[in-house]
Amino acid sequence: MKTKIVTKSTKSDVAIFLLTGISDLNGFKTLGEKVKKDILKGIKMDDWKFEEGKVKLFSFYDKDIKHGVVASLGKIKDLTCEKIRKTTASAIKKGIEFKPEKVSLFIPEIKGFDAGEAVKSAVEGAILSSYSFDRHKNKKSDKIGELFINTVNNNKKVTEAVKEGVVLAECTNIARDLVNEPSNVIYPETLAKEAVKLSKKYGFTAEIFEEKEIEKLKMESFLAVARAAEKRPRLIVLKYMGNPSNKEVTALVGKGLTYDTGGLALKPATGMVTMKCDMGGSAAVIGAISAIAAMKLKVNVISVVAACENSIGGNAYRNGDIIGSMAGKTIEVLNTDAEGRLTLIDAVTYSIKKLKATKIVDIATLTGAVMVALGNTVTGVVSNNDKFFKQLEKASGSSGEQIWRLPNYPEYSEMLKSEIADLRNIGKNRLAGTITAGLFVGEFVENKPWLHLDIAGTSWRDAPESYNQAGGTGAGVRLLYHLMKNQ
Ligand code: BES
Ligand code: ZN
Ligand code: ZN
Repeated sequence: MKTKIVTKSTKSDVAIFLLTGISDLNGFKTLGEKVKKDILKGIKMDDWKFEEGKVKLFSFYDKDIKHGVVASLGKIKDLTCEKIRKTTASAIKKGIEFKPEKVSLFIPEIKGFDAGEAVKSAVEGAILSSYSFDRHKNKKSDKIGELFINTVNNNKKVTEAVKEGVVLAECTNIARDLVNEPSNVIYPETLAKEAVKLSKKYGFTAEIFEEKEIEKLKMESFLAVARAAEKRPRLIVLKYMGNPSNKEVTALVGKGLTYDTGGLALKPATGMVTMKCDMGGSAAVIGAISAIAAMKLKVNVISVVAACENSIGGNAYRNGDIIGSMAGKTIEVLNTDAEGRLTLIDAVTYSIKKLKATKIVDIATLTGAVMVALGNTVTGVVSNNDKFFKQLEKASGSSGEQIWRLPNYPEYSEMLKSEIADLRNIGKNRLAGTITAGLFVGEFVENKPWLHLDIAGTSWRDAPESYNQAGGTGAGVRLLYHLMKNQ
């Protein structure tokens, strides 16, 4: 979908009007007086009360606009960016029924609400909700060809906001594509190729390490997980240095299990079927660095992915094995299905030892337990640093990606102690599974400010809702982008 800001009336198959009240119509200079009158008439006839999220179709006879969708943003005092995204998504869904090629989106200036934020949110809602994953289908879904953005003012702030909204939505869609592609299409080698392609498109560097080099780095924990799979592992290292004179470097470490069978602790078929999604963390860090580079943020970021498949075979690592790690710590593997953390720790150590990362964020589809605790609309967070967590909370507000911090009391770390190695890869029982998984990774961050994001719930939807379709949601892309922007 092409998106552009327009300054005069544009022929469109569907026009969407986001409104907090009828007076908003006056601000739309690209809109003809007759259409304004028709909308007003319809609104009055319907005794329209501008309830939040309400959407209505209008038919009128206009030379430029074939169909209209009026969408109510509700009361200004209750309005949030997320509500703008959601209302725009509802309106797009209504409008798309007409199979439009050209869609005009009218965004009002809202009293007391930042104009840039409003425009950005509407653009995000529109692009995110018109996504579909139909590459492998012969019958394609209906797509919008062009999106015309009509704003009240086209100042620099608004233009930048449109650009940011487009970039963030497109990079989220990139992450969705990566997650939605099955494991016979996206495996470590092809995931690395996609990352290289994106590095050229958006302007960051990509370095890909093959198995021999990974062995030289002594990433024993990562290699243990990767061992049985036909598809060989890759270490993907992406760099964007937007502020080279600053020593601060944030590592975004994404779990990149292109498929998780559970290993010898094999998952049942029903639990395995969606496990192509187990590289959702890597999709997030690849999408985020793309957006950060596209918007030329003045920050230093590295995205690191230890990409592999957790498979079975005679040479697979086993329940009960003791393995090493790049950091030198030994690990008693009590469950081969708790594999993500084993790949993450070597990627974290690599970021600190080789790339001199000063802050660590890891993001992973790590535990089923996070879904039990928080459902699929909230990402679970574990952190060792209040200030860093506050910045994430702010990013959550800007992106609409909801988070909740879990406690990290020493009792939880106790649960990871092994009798015969330095650490166990799971707790002694199933209690507090999300926290112990996070704290296991935390054992490797060398006291650097650290955030652990468990997106097992939020990176995937079984059914569509709001601006997410069924499948990958692209969780983490916008959250990480805003975290870096706020640095
Ligand atoms: N990839 C899974 C977690 C997961 C579950 C992601 C459902 C998305 C949806 C992870 O590797 C896993 O299997 N975790 C185990 C840990 C357990 C063995 C301690 C789990 O959550 O059951
Ligand atoms: Zn697993
Ligand atoms: Zn996994």
